[in-house]
Amino acid sequence: MARVIAFVSGKGGVGKTTTAVNVAQALFDSKKKVLLVDANVTTPNVSLHYSINPGGFSLHEVLNGKIGIEQVIYKTETGLLVIPGGLNFDNLKTKIKKSLASMLLSLMDKFDYIIIDAGAGLGMETQMAIRACEEVVLVTNPELPAITDALRAKKLAEDLRVNLLGVVLNKKTGLDFDLKDQNIADFLELPIIGDIPFDINVSKSIKERIPVVTAYPLSKAAKAIKKLVNIITKEELYIQDKPDNAFFKWIKKSLGLNQ
Ligand SMILES: Nc1ncnc2c1ncn2[C@@H]1O[C@H](COP(=O)(O)OP(=O)(O)O)[C@@H](O)[C@H]1O
Ligand SMILES: [Mg+2]
Repeated sequence: MARVIAFVSGKGGVGKTTTAVNVAQALFDSKKKVLLVDANVTTPNVSLHYSINPGGFSLHEVLNGKIGIEQVIYKTETGLLVIPGGLNFDNLKTKIKKSLASMLLSLMDKFDYIIIDAGAGLGMETQMAIRACEEVVLVTNPELPAITDALRAKKLAEDLRVNLLGVVLNKKTGLDFDLKDQNIADFLELPIIGDIPFDINVSKSIKERIPVVTAYPLSKAAKAIKKLVNIITKEELYIQDKPDNAFFKWIKKSLGLNQ
């Protein structure tokens, strides 16, 4: 049975797609059977991280009930299997009829891991992605707006009763203005399971349309992603103590999330 893991953030641009693509690729490289699903219905871009022809059928036609899910599994040049989102702008106008969860059911025994790249925001698309998985990884940046949205995403994942594996801190600069890991862990009350530095090799690899773990395996970002994959596969997760930071408590109160 596949472990179905969604990468969720609330805020856009924090690195969900980059992390999901590279985690899926690294799992595949370690000989696991992996499917990567682009659950961004309105703003899909997983296929742009590879050289997949995005003009073909996509998850969109599956969710519309036009075709079966097996018909939209594409093989990337690295060998990883991907279900792309539909890039056609007209997709925005059509109504979704099927749930992603029910569509993935038939694939559960064919894979070890199904990695879902969720959309930005916490609307229907993201909820669809969370409903289709059993485990969620929160992706965020060491900045207040990003971790505040991550907290909202955490709340949504809790409401939908999925298992929160932990937080990936992406685009860390290592400079003074980055929020500290411990403060973020305290604020979100979740373990930090990944620390990915801001690394120019990520942008280079996107231009080359090859995941950074494959294109630049010795880069800092690639090494950090492989470390994250080790933690996900070994489930070396730990329980975090409750926070007592007054500033963070105030933000939680403003969000209506204070326990
Ligand atoms: N670790 C990183 N270092 C440098 N740039 C990054 C890193 N992670 C992501 N990026 C860049 O940030 C942008 C947004 O990343 P993306 O994965 O598309 O975010 P999201 O899916 O959360 O919207 C992309 O242009 C990507 O190249
Ligand atoms: Mg994305």
